[in-house]
Amino acid sequence: MFRFFLFTCHMMQKILFVCLGNICRSPLAEGIMLYLKEKHQLTLEIDSAGTSNYHIGETPDKRTIQNALKNGVDLRDLRARQFDVSDFDKFDTIFVMDKSNLKDILKLSENKSHHAKVHLLLSQSKNSEFAEVPDPYFGGEQGFETVFKLVYEACERIRIQIHS
Ligand code: 4NP
Repeated sequence: MFRFFLFTCHMMQKILFVCLGNICRSPLAEGIMLYLKEKHQLTLEIDSAGTSNYHIGETPDKRTIQNALKNGVDLRDLRARQFDVSDFDKFDTIFVMDKSNLKDILKLSENKSHHAKVHLLLSQSKNSEFAEVPDPYFGGEQGFETVFKLVYEACERIRIQIHS
């Protein structure tokens, strides 16, 4: 199903990005969105979290940090945390990277309002090859570059929606 996210300009939007470990994809999305926030002077609150507790307190994966730096985005100050059910009330929109994250987060949702906040990050992407942001953790360097391009494009789309 094709869904539109309604960002209203007068409100401070609070956006949460979620993946499994919170060390590759979602901190990258957080870092890119922070970069766009600074570049375009957006009024936004941005955070990221993992569905798992595997990497709590850790910096993003070294390969994610290196690839993002190569593309002009610095993730070195970010630290992993686990998604908490209270995040449903703290954030307006929750973008998940893949369908497994979607399932895990929706299992925790307690009402329709929570449910309605959760979207696949690539659900509005024009790139029909990818419905999900692939997990780069067990792959090579090319996977990190693919993830960067997909996430950057999605964040730009969010940024344009906030502006318009
Ligand atoms: P992420 O990638 O969900 O994009 O942060 C992963 C990071 C760690 C693991 C899996 C995926 N892991 O199994 O530890």
